[in-house]
Amino acid sequence: MKIYITGIAGFLGSHLAKRLINLGHEVSGNDSMIQGELDNLPGNINFHKIDCCNYDEMSRNLKDIDIVYHCAATAHEGLSVFSPNFITKNIYQASISVITASIINKVKRFVFCSSMARYGNQKSPFTEDMAPKPEDPYGIAKVAVEDTLKLLCEVHSMDYNIAVPHNIVGPNQKYDDPFRNVMSIFINRNLQNKPSIIYGDGNQTRCFSYIDDVIFCLEKLALEKKISKEIINIGPDEETITINELSKLISNETGYNGEPIYVPARPQEVREASCSSNKARKLLDYKTKTSLKESVKLTADYIRSKGTRNFIYNLPVEIRSDITPETWTKKTI
Ligand SMILES: NC(=O)c1ccc[n+]([C@@H]2O[C@H](COP(=O)([O-])OP(=O)(O)OC[C@H]3O[C@@H](n4cnc5c(N)ncnc54)[C@H](O)[C@@H]3O)[C@@H](O)[C@H]2O)c1
Repeated sequence: MKIYITGIAGFLGSHLAKRLINLGHEVSGNDSMIQGELDNLPGNINFHKIDCCNYDEMSRNLKDIDIVYHCAATAHEGLSVFSPNFITKNIYQASISVITASIINKVKRFVFCSSMARYGNQKSPFTEDMAPKPEDPYGIAKVAVEDTLKLLCEVHSMDYNIAVPHNIVGPNQKYDDPFRNVMSIFINRNLQNKPSIIYGDGNQTRCFSYIDDVIFCLEKLALEKKISKEIINIGPDEETITINELSKLISNETGYNGEPIYVPARPQEVREASCSSNKARKLLDYKTKTSLKESVKLTADYIRSKGTRNFIYNLPVEIRSDITPETWTKKTI
């Protein structure tokens, strides 16, 4: 099959590319490189440095493609309240450009990476049958893409699936981004002998999944014929953890002795966020194989192997007021 992956130099996109190439598929893809890393790309891949919003280029790129996997996004939920223009352009406008380019090229199946942000602050664990109730521009834009995708697929007869990944961690994940990826940020800081920085009281709960446990679920959403027009949570529902506990687990792994720093909570941050994996277990044979402790160790091993880094503030903070986190306005991470 000819498979095209947007956001291919990012975390999920690059793992998916390696996996699909190993399975014998012809893989190509694009990335604007706003967040991606060239090092993540498998060797000899047909890579285009193109922004998904560039509809003409996307239309040319998707010629003769069977399946499109749309991973590209600026997946910055917390920042989206302060940079709504920048974040939603890279979610809604970018996605509609790729969906339209897929339709005109008669792509057979479109797999969209949505987000658990679609569920908002509802009672967790979130199940796929819950009506979406996003609480921030990132989640609202993801749900708008889901709705537009379903409508356009219905009208123009393109097959689709929607993946709802949540807090996936592991090698290739960006760890010098101060706006996103809490586990990698804590590890990168602790390894530099700096404390974790926690927003609010740290009692918010999350559930993390290791990339190797979920990649084959993402693959099946593209390749399994009988799984069609589904929306499926991708990740575990075991080992829910508070951010305080995560910080302790990481300091045990990194050998960092100090206490975390607490800063004011971020507006709209969801308190309890975990997804049910029942549908993924049933349809995709999902099983959690990597414990949280092991996931922390493997992610720390990756960061050690690449070397710790300074954080890069290359994304715009559009709305600066007294509720904008100082970690971003004063660049304190
Ligand atoms: N990793 C997770 O835990 C997680 C959780 C929920 C949702 N998701 C979704 O999964 C997808 C992949 O996430 P990830 O963790 O791999 O993120 P990532 O940041 O590692 O990868 C996304 C890639 O998209 C690229 N990109 C951004 N805007 C673009 C544009 N307009 N045109 C072209 N490229 C663009 C970035 O440069 C980056 O390389 C995203 O859609 C994200 O919303 C991921």
